[in-house]
Amino acid sequence: MTSIGLVGLGYWGPNLARNFDELAELRWLCDLDPDLRERFAPRYPTARLTDDFDDLLADPELDAIVIATPTVTHYELAKRSLEAGKHVLVEKPPAMNAAEAEELVAIAEATGLVLMPGHLLLYHPAVRAMKALIDADELGEVLCVYSNRQNLGKIRADENALWSLGVHDLSVILHLLDEEPSEMWAHGNSFLTPGVEDIVFCYLRFPSGKIAHMHLSWLDPHKMRKLTVVGKEKMVVFDDMELERKVTIYEKGPWQPTHTYGEWQTRTGDISSPKIPSDEPLRLECRHFLDLADGRGDPLRAGQDGLAVVRVLEQLQTSLVAAPA
Ligand SMILES: NC(=O)c1ccc[n+]([C@@H]2O[C@H](COP(=O)([O-])OP(=O)(O)OC[C@H]3O[C@@H](n4cnc5c(N)ncnc54)[C@H](O)[C@@H]3O)[C@@H](O)[C@H]2O)c1
Repeated sequence: MTSIGLVGLGYWGPNLARNFDELAELRWLCDLDPDLRERFAPRYPTARLTDDFDDLLADPELDAIVIATPTVTHYELAKRSLEAGKHVLVEKPPAMNAAEAEELVAIAEATGLVLMPGHLLLYHPAVRAMKALIDADELGEVLCVYSNRQNLGKIRADENALWSLGVHDLSVILHLLDEEPSEMWAHGNSFLTPGVEDIVFCYLRFPSGKIAHMHLSWLDPHKMRKLTVVGKEKMVVFDDMELERKVTIYEKGPWQPTHTYGEWQTRTGDISSPKIPSDEPLRLECRHFLDLADGRGDPLRAGQDGLAVVRVLEQLQTSLVAAPA
């Protein structure tokens, strides 16, 4: 059974602890905060607790390290883990710039270790259903994707809305379109913490001509977690705020009747909602990591996908800083 050392027991880490405790051997729990270590010790009596990350690196029986610490620490902790011969699942994004993400991917590839960023939404059954629709050409030619990730809060001071929220949508958009954008712009402003943009609008254009947009904000009256794909034959919406109808397929699209000599008209048909399995995305993500660590699946893909996301985030950030608000 794969043995796991988890670092970071703040907001997100406990979700990873619960899953890996059920799926693997949870061997180490590491956090700098003594109160957190004390809180989780009784829940995981067989796990060893420490405030010293080096304890995990030094354990020859430990197979893999899961990193759920603040984003600014990811690169260093992931690099040290790989150099110590451990597979790595690192929360998104794996690094704060493309050069560091490239270095992590290179170390993982050279050592044959798994480097998997925690792109949770890629494991969401609704995203898998959308990807299946696109790959089966059910939507016709895909023209445009846009996402809405808005709410009032959680206001972060160490990461802007682009890096904190956009990383989710970006991972999904690149996955659905299977392309990296050739042009991208971001506009936004920091209203609360100087230099930390709270509201960001991003525009992406792909070599195939497809376009995408992301509206990212923690200063908004609506709680929205929505992604829309506009195809020429059908359109599909993933709404994560819906309890049951997570995915809705609209048989709507443009068409050109032969008698109108090139004039476009619109066509509307059925609106349907496929059943989406209620599997917990994080459980599927953890299983995928364990499969990869066990030698099942493509060990390089996840790291490469994570690098692509960081590359785009970095270019969007450059344009965000350069753009007038
Ligand atoms: N996939 C998702 O949906 C999702 C959701 C929330 C957060 N996250 C990601 O998870 C990561 C953690 O976010 P959070 O909100 O849980 O942060 P947090 O601040 O609540 O928790 C981070 C914990 O890491 C500990 N820590 C920091 N440096 C350490 C070190 N060197 N050694 C040991 N412990 C250390 C801190 O003491 C803290 O308890 C972030 O990268 C965030 O982007 C992902």
